[in-house]
Amino acid sequence: MQTLTTTSLRIRKSQLWILDQQALPQRAEWHLCRTVDDLVGHIHALRVRGAPLIGLSASLLLAQLAEEGMPVAELHQALATLRASRPTAVNLMNNLDRMKIALEQRFHIPAMVQEAEGLVGEDRELCDRIATHGAELVTAGSRLLTHCNTGGLATAGVGTALGVIHRAHQQGKVSQVWVDETRPLLQGGRLTAWELGELKIPYRLICDSMAASLMAKKQVDAIWVGADRIAANGDVANKIGTYSLAVLAKYHGIPFYVAAPHTTHDPHCPNGEAIPIEQRAAKEVTGVSGSFGDVQWAPVDAEVYNPAFDVTPAELVSGWVLDSGVVTPEQVRDGIFRAAR
Ligand code: MRU
Repeated sequence: MQTLTTTSLRIRKSQLWILDQQALPQRAEWHLCRTVDDLVGHIHALRVRGAPLIGLSASLLLAQLAEEGMPVAELHQALATLRASRPTAVNLMNNLDRMKIALEQRFHIPAMVQEAEGLVGEDRELCDRIATHGAELVTAGSRLLTHCNTGGLATAGVGTALGVIHRAHQQGKVSQVWVDETRPLLQGGRLTAWELGELKIPYRLICDSMAASLMAKKQVDAIWVGADRIAANGDVANKIGTYSLAVLAKYHGIPFYVAAPHTTHDPHCPNGEAIPIEQRAAKEVTGVSGSFGDVQWAPVDAEVYNPAFDVTPAELVSGWVLDSGVVTPEQVRDGIFRAAR
């Protein structure tokens, strides 16, 4: 494979390295991924996270294993294991479908390398197009609120929702970003805050529970989030807490935009109820873990509900900003997401 660099993935001497998104922002630690078990462990621990990035890292690792001479039957097994590593983000399945086609070619090694590298290049371009379309929706002087992390860390390019915010800021239209800390795993407080700081975009960090009062005080002009899966009826699975923002936005008359590449769209999934939602460990809610260590505040035997994602019904979304352009609620009602792309 060729040398490759994104914010959180690197290929050096045909080896995959990942930036540890659990150590950020305190430490920038890179881990070498040699095996499927290595990468699955990183994905489970959210050291590698974000819908597009999960699919890209899995594709690059498969290409690496093919180059190293792994037999075809084992590559099929590796692909199946990676496919099962997280259930909600459909980008992983979409990317691996393409890698499977490459694996079935007669000269599968160059085909897989070309496909994995191509997916990275494509994701960069998709992010760029989303940023262009989305920035057109941002009005001058906007105070934008975002949830979770949808930036360069989560993609191969400028990001999805955060890419839009970045582009609109470059155009002088963003006065401030409100960053939801995004409990329980703090992707906003740790990663989005870090990325906005690096980009020199003014932001203020809030606890998730503060968003409602900000909206009531007319301090939020629009909400921008990413997606892990968009169903055929336009329902959107994204980081837990997204749905509450959408309900709040509707009540306060604030536009609520979802930004995602077409690799996040699942035409085979009829609606949000059919989207598999990952359930995670209790300890993520009973305390926090990070580069500072583990802190537990709840009773050790506390019963916990910890879904990683929730579903926002299509009727709460003002616009789906894709690489192909902005999809309106009317177009969704007319079945645009059901059409084959
Ligand atoms: O559990 P995570 O951190 O992988 O969840 C990520 C999100 O929910 C993002 O909003 C989504 O994947 C889009 S990233 C461009």
